[in-house]
Amino acid sequence: MTVQTGAGSSSDVVDILTTDHREMLDLLSQAERTTDTDQRRDLVETAIAEVMRHAVAEEMYVYPAMEKHLPNGTEEVEHDKQEHDEIVRVMKQLEDVDASSPKFMELVKELKKQLDHHADDEESDQFPKLRAHFSSEQLVDMGSKVENAKKLAPTRPHPSAPHSELFHKSVGPGVGMVDRLMDKLKGRHTG
Ligand SMILES: [Fe+2]
Ligand SMILES: [Fe+2]
Repeated sequence: MTVQTGAGSSSDVVDILTTDHREMLDLLSQAERTTDTDQRRDLVETAIAEVMRHAVAEEMYVYPAMEKHLPNGTEEVEHDKQEHDEIVRVMKQLEDVDASSPKFMELVKELKKQLDHHADDEESDQFPKLRAHFSSEQLVDMGSKVENAKKLAPTRPHPSAPHSELFHKSVGPGVGMVDRLMDKLKGRHTG
């Protein structure tokens, strides 16, 4: 649902998170299709940056609300966080593997499978419950909090977009990218 306001339009949290899911899965499908290994690595790193921004924002603003207000919220959030941890584990493995190796493709496939499953859980089970238990205003408000949280770490430019200096300066690709994104998003400065 989109709420139109005088100052433009604002999406609710369910729209934002659902769009994120489609985009990250699409990036991974593109990575599976391309035969260019540089582009494959770029697409996967872009997906990793998007997944981190999304997952941390959910854990900061969406899961706590679910925990507090949904029936069985605590169990649902526990389950979701475990799935986030598994997804993070696969992304960290990807950082270390050469994009031209068969192992890289196996891990991309595994990541896609886990994300697809997790997104499906959220979209078919938890998001409808969010819509049932929160007002449209609350959902739009949660949506802006999520958007702000995501801004704490820069997005990796889409491989087809012009090169962004900002991403490379503040996060940079390669080994440790997942941890560095997590630090940025959670506001830790571990150097
Ligand atoms: Fe999630
Ligand atoms: Fe999600």
